[in-house]
Amino acid sequence: MTKYNLNSLLVFILLTCGAFFSQAQTREVITLNKGWKFNKGNHPKAITSNFDASKWENVTVPHDWAIYGPFNKEVDIQRVAIVQNGENVATEKTGRTGALPYIGEAWYRNEFSLPQFNENKKVLIVFEGAMSEPEVFLNGEKVGEWKYGYSYFYFDITDYINSTDKNILAVKLTNLGLSSRWYPGAGLYRKVRVVVKDKANINQWGTFITTPIITPELAKVNIKTKVSGENLKLVTDIFDADGDKVNTKETSTLFSNEFDQNIGVENPKLWSPETPYLYTSVSRLYSNNELKDELTKRFGIRSINYDQKTGFSLNGEVRKFKGVCLHHDLGPIGTAVNKSALRRQLRILKDMGCDAIRSSHNMPSIEQLELCDEMGFMFLAESFDEWAKPKVKNGYNRFFDEYAEKDIVNLVHATRNHPSIVLWSSGNEVPDQWGTEGVKRAKWLQDIFHREDPTRPVTVGMDQVKATIESGFGALLDVPGLNYRVHLYEEAYEKFPQGFLLGSETASTVSSRGIYKFPVEIASMKTYDDFQSSSYDLEYCSWSNLPDDDFVLQDDKPWVIGEFVWTGFDYLGEPTPYDEAWPSRSSYFGINDLAGLPKDRYYLYRSRWNTEDETLHILPHWNWKGREGDTTPVFVYTSYDSAELFLNGKSLGVQKKSSKTHQNRYRLMWMDVKYEPGTLKVVALDKNGNPAAQKDIKTAGKPHKIVLSPDVKTLKANGEDLSYVTVSVVDKNGIPCPTATNQLKFKVEGKGTYRAACNGDATSLELFHLPTMKLFSGKLVVLVQSKEEAGKIKLSVSGKGLKSSKITLNSIE
Ligand code: GAL
Repeated sequence: MTKYNLNSLLVFILLTCGAFFSQAQTREVITLNKGWKFNKGNHPKAITSNFDASKWENVTVPHDWAIYGPFNKEVDIQRVAIVQNGENVATEKTGRTGALPYIGEAWYRNEFSLPQFNENKKVLIVFEGAMSEPEVFLNGEKVGEWKYGYSYFYFDITDYINSTDKNILAVKLTNLGLSSRWYPGAGLYRKVRVVVKDKANINQWGTFITTPIITPELAKVNIKTKVSGENLKLVTDIFDADGDKVNTKETSTLFSNEFDQNIGVENPKLWSPETPYLYTSVSRLYSNNELKDELTKRFGIRSINYDQKTGFSLNGEVRKFKGVCLHHDLGPIGTAVNKSALRRQLRILKDMGCDAIRSSHNMPSIEQLELCDEMGFMFLAESFDEWAKPKVKNGYNRFFDEYAEKDIVNLVHATRNHPSIVLWSSGNEVPDQWGTEGVKRAKWLQDIFHREDPTRPVTVGMDQVKATIESGFGALLDVPGLNYRVHLYEEAYEKFPQGFLLGSETASTVSSRGIYKFPVEIASMKTYDDFQSSSYDLEYCSWSNLPDDDFVLQDDKPWVIGEFVWTGFDYLGEPTPYDEAWPSRSSYFGINDLAGLPKDRYYLYRSRWNTEDETLHILPHWNWKGREGDTTPVFVYTSYDSAELFLNGKSLGVQKKSSKTHQNRYRLMWMDVKYEPGTLKVVALDKNGNPAAQKDIKTAGKPHKIVLSPDVKTLKANGEDLSYVTVSVVDKNGIPCPTATNQLKFKVEGKGTYRAACNGDATSLELFHLPTMKLFSGKLVVLVQSKEEAGKIKLSVSGKGLKSSKITLNSIE
């Protein structure tokens, strides 16, 4: 078991096993996941207790109302010029927000009881995101509203509770068209919770844990705790990852409404991506010596530093971010947050050697941060895609003046104890990069971050590099982030005072998994009749560049502190370079496709980022009927420096990485291979020229049999856990068929349900939640979801003319 798995297991035991901590019945947290009624349209009467919602749809929350489609080019059509892509004439854009029906109003309704409620209690309702413009009503009255769909927010609902057994909650959501540049999802897509606690309590997001002093012998853990109540005392215990108590502190001196505790931890184990060690604090609040509240928080002990001379360091060690940007949708399940889907993404990224995530361009889910803490990923938590100046007519610009400060405060307060977060971002390519108002806004926002969290710096992803050099915008940032613009790195480094630069967004190379185009050549904004992009990884956008161009800067410039590649996974919407073509409804930027299946590019990043495991990957596939004798270049992405290629046993020569071109430096390329069916074999050579590893791919015959391969075989019987089963087909000799497009059918029986399928084809209009789909480049993924009862789950996959296949998964308590 790897280190990070071991740690997450311990943390899991720690958090689930009551024996470690006393489980005081002091506060109750009710997750409102079941019993929701949902309806599109405007239903103002839904706030009343006698409203009949029996005909409304039954849903569970998190929920995304738009992911069930249908895909329709008309539902989100935009006639716009995408200015940040360099356009100045408006044209018709289809699929820009996924071609899914997220626009409109909708209502959610739920009832909950609070048997423990009395006049000594305080009740909060906490939303971790609601898409969008939520208006919240309880027992017929409006409790409050928020605007930004990505924000965490809460309301005190104590005064609205009028019964211990039936409280009617209604939430109205409104999504306008022209409000997003990608698929934003729709609905209560993150958790909703009711917190019932004593009037004497630890305040919501009132705990701030930092580790200001760290030596090998001792770390000082500073815990600030905001509280309410009289005659208070706070007792905090700290536990290590084994659940052993390492120290305790009792404090009765309040500074205003805050306790400030310093607690020593001897021989601290430091948190890092490689060693994601987590401690736990348990704070108990007493009023007049009676226990009133108890709160458990996980934290890590780690130091970060951004230094003019050395760049970024974690725990005193200089390193560069090997990061990816991620949008929040989870492909076939849309934006409804699901921890096992997020965990799978991170497992895939971990194997690639990635160590950092940027939540572009908004607040991350709490679940994603918890997983990054446990599995070891550094996190760049972003907030906005626009400030006061619009990118899209109905975007955040409508709320900026009134909400920006509140949204940042909530972002920081809700997430600041996650050791994974090492950097904040106040914006991405905001049009406010132009003009003096924008400079002031950049300063204002950065100051808010500093006020709320003095321990982490702030960046902005800048694409208008020249303008931000001129205006002072870039100079005032803690960390200047450049989006693309590799040709301006040197100039920005010289003109900005910080002494280092971050590649806050890089590459934007486009590809479709398993699709290869000829001739093989570097091209910008290249399009084809089938609306796919070539997986030779040589196609990029007019504003962006190829991965290798970033690698050169990362490797040669000590003052570049890392990169965040656009993107780790394909996402719904933004189908560049096919913004104007239909059908195409999801992105081509991903290192992995929308189903989470690795594209070739995955191995290019893996070959340099994963320094522990060998990478040896050949492309393209070797099924080119009709191209016999045609030039079919072969690329090898490998952690080795050189390799020899053989076609049907005949050597095609040795290639060695060289500095001839950016591509030659990072890829082994045989450009003149003439296709003939058979076996293509690559033998990697060590430093002395001796064979060190080998790999081959073979021309496949006709699809014969379905093969199933689950990412996990054992699920938790919690009604949410997912197994991602990769479905592929092989010929009668067991050789994978890389071009198969068979229509398949799925059936799930027993203690699980069929959740969705995805094949990664950005042009597919098949619906994810229906139990049939075509293979794309020989593969797709089926998502099987557990029920709340333990037992066996059987998945059967069949297809016309194919030998079908079954697997059994286990769901356990
Ligand atoms: C960037 C932008 C991203 C995405 C990307 C596509 O300019 O920040 O959100 O649009 O381009 O290449």
